[in-house]
Amino acid sequence: MTNPKNNVISFLNMKGGVGKTTLCLSLAYQLTNDYDKKILIIDMDPQFNATQTMMEQYNLINDYLDDYREKKTVKRIFDRKQTLAGSVEEESVEPDEIIISSDINSNLDIICGNIDLIFEDKNQDSVSKKRLDIFLKKHNLRNEYDFIFIDCPPTISFFTDASLIASDHYLIPVKIDKFSTLGVKMLDNVVGLMKEDPDFRINCLGIIYTLQEDQKKLEGIREVFEENSIVSRYNIFDNGMKKHNHLLSGERGNIAYNYEETKGDMLLICNEFLFAYEQVGEPGE
Ligand SMILES: Nc1ncnc2c1ncn2[C@@H]1O[C@H](COP(=O)(O)OP(=O)(O)OP(=O)(O)O)[C@@H](O)[C@H]1O
Ligand SMILES: [Mg+2]
Repeated sequence: MTNPKNNVISFLNMKGGVGKTTLCLSLAYQLTNDYDKKILIIDMDPQFNATQTMMEQYNLINDYLDDYREKKTVKRIFDRKQTLAGSVEEESVEPDEIIISSDINSNLDIICGNIDLIFEDKNQDSVSKKRLDIFLKKHNLRNEYDFIFIDCPPTISFFTDASLIASDHYLIPVKIDKFSTLGVKMLDNVVGLMKEDPDFRINCLGIIYTLQEDQKKLEGIREVFEENSIVSRYNIFDNGMKKHNHLLSGERGNIAYNYEETKGDMLLICNEFLFAYEQVGEPGE
């Protein structure tokens, strides 16, 4: 067996609505189409926005509602069952039971999210946080794909921790505004606490600006953000994702690849992402 790759990447920011999901899907779509990469997306957010976009993209909305929602989501990885004797047992799930593929883009698979994850959050103990990590390792999924992207919720939660534990790297999408520093600081704090466990290894690939607007007044805010003592420790990508109305309300959803106007931005981000990935060392170095 070849050594597993360090190719599991979480998209994270403790601030909501900053374009995490849009960046995650757009990057995945472009890398699979224009760079011939094979990617698995895992939707760990109970809001399941990535799932909704991808199900629409793959014409699978009805299949999701009728079937997948119950049986084929990431929740299966965390499910446990009560035995007759009253003890709790882990259920075991095989990758092909929950990974959704489509001929529409055969290089891009997804493990869907599920709104019921909200209720799971409080039911889980700290050992269960390792279930996603164990699932990826047990089935050697790192070697099945060029990348595994995890779309995370914007909150400190069981599922954020589980995503980080399963990841080798993370990327921080940031929308510049007065409160940008807060989301990055909180994330830095969460990762810092987790790093107290010597087995926990992760590297940050960098910050990518999203929802960029051409406004002079934002330049000053960006400068203050970049001078922050925590932020300045991170690699900030030269290329960002501009705010574009199609991505907000376009008929073809929030995947940049679907619009000629936004494809170009994404190509530059893809190149820089691949470069950052090549440069970064082993997780935790
Ligand atoms: N570059 C962009 N241009 C225009 N609209 C965008 C862009 N990126 C994201 N959006 C829109 O902004 C909103 C928030 O984006 P998105 O859902 O990707 O953020 P998020 O950080 O994943 O949010 P949450 O924290 O709720 O998971 C969505 O309506 C999305 O369509
Ligand atoms: Mg999201």
